[in-house]
Amino acid sequence: MSAVINVDVKGPQISRHLYGHFAEHLGRCIYGGFYVGEDSDLPNAGGLRLDVVDALRALNIPNLRWPGGCFADEYHWMDGIGPKDQRPSMVNTHWGNVEENNHFGTHEFMALCELLGADPYISGNVGSGTVREMSDWVEYLTREGDSPMVRLRKANGREEPWRVPFWGLGNEAWGCGGNMTAQQYAAEARRFGTYCRDHGGNKLYRIAAGANSDDYAWTETLMKMLGDLGCAYRPAGYTQALSVHYYTIAGTWQDKGDATVFGTDDYYRTMVQAARVDELLTGHSNVMDCYDPGKNVGLVLDEWGTWWNVEPGTNPGFLYQQNTLRDALVAGIHFDIFHRHADRLVMANIAQTVNVLQAMILTDPESKALVLTPTYHVFEMNKGHHDAASLRVDLPSGAPARTVGSAELTTVSVSASRKDDRVLVSLSNLDAAEPADVVLDLRGGAVTDVRSRILTAGALQDHNTPDAPDTVAPRAHDQVTSTAAGLRVHLPAHSFVTVEASVS
Ligand code: AHR
Repeated sequence: MSAVINVDVKGPQISRHLYGHFAEHLGRCIYGGFYVGEDSDLPNAGGLRLDVVDALRALNIPNLRWPGGCFADEYHWMDGIGPKDQRPSMVNTHWGNVEENNHFGTHEFMALCELLGADPYISGNVGSGTVREMSDWVEYLTREGDSPMVRLRKANGREEPWRVPFWGLGNEAWGCGGNMTAQQYAAEARRFGTYCRDHGGNKLYRIAAGANSDDYAWTETLMKMLGDLGCAYRPAGYTQALSVHYYTIAGTWQDKGDATVFGTDDYYRTMVQAARVDELLTGHSNVMDCYDPGKNVGLVLDEWGTWWNVEPGTNPGFLYQQNTLRDALVAGIHFDIFHRHADRLVMANIAQTVNVLQAMILTDPESKALVLTPTYHVFEMNKGHHDAASLRVDLPSGAPARTVGSAELTTVSVSASRKDDRVLVSLSNLDAAEPADVVLDLRGGAVTDVRSRILTAGALQDHNTPDAPDTVAPRAHDQVTSTAAGLRVHLPAHSFVTVEASVS
């Protein structure tokens, strides 16, 4: 097949925030993952695990969403400030019914973001919190000068305000965030959003808790109630974006399937579910376009990723799962789809960064060893797309496809971007057994200095462990040849490939 890409026709910018992350007080994401405490024998800064920080810095992670998820709507931030031995504890009812000692709180999260060089995205508590509590949290974090919350922050050791660009108004309000109707939630979002003030130079980008999967009616209700309808939609000052959550679940909610033990049919079913994110982003964008054709309101997919049964023998409430080449391919096609929706999609956050669901990093509870997952490598290989201009990819002869149940799965996926004089093309071959060749017909510039990398493995089930950390890791790819028709890229079965080149 051939892919035509005009390297001199720039499309919408791919926000780096499409490569965002999510860390919830869930299982071993925070405790044991990001945070090990100051007394740990692992290298740490104020209890923050430095090998995790270093691995994530290498991804240039743009933002980190915290403290939930469902946990956010039970979290009372004042319990997580001040001397650790005086912080009250609580029960984490959503995730394993374990006691949360609140040793990781606001200051620890903001220190983590500073170490990572990532923008904080804080999800406030709408479900069980008060408007005053949320408003005070914003003041505590972002106000300078003198005020009750500023004095409290200073008493806790932080003089200067922090910069907090992203603010979530609750989470999954249709479910764990309060079981509200869309109308009820929209009224709450207006109220909470109003009192989350912009203090000084800190401008909040407020994100309303959006729809579950294909609930387009939820999005429509929010669009109607969170802005001023008229000839031109004017988003009200209290929200700037709506979210949506979509997980790739190949089985049923009760039995989601195993992360590492699966057959080819399970694999293809997974890919069909993953590719559905395109239909969902299109659907939500279409609804938003009806009200806001100028695309002033952002769409934020602040939870996405694979969700399998937990690893045998682990706490069912901790959502700990392994991560194979299959997960990496799921990530690869998500990013291609995100790039195509860059005009409306302003942020996406994989769930979750460490030890939970489709993680970048797994840590061993006994040996404490850290493992980078196949998904991590896709994020790393795609770094060049951050804030690059998207490039349209046309497939004149179409792409190979296969029938999976009642669905058609396109098995070769391609996306491209340009930043300055560098072009980056990402390609996935989803076919479990057949290779594919793609001729990249790059028009509008002379191409030099071509480099390619590949992520694949002998089997779809292959994954990384402390004993074999590089079973699935990127390697140089030498099967890119220059032909009269363009760059011929050979894609082995089940592989993810990047091709980078200079254009002039
Ligand atoms: O990511 C795990 C959970 O999935 C989140 O807490 C919740 O928002 C979603 O249902």
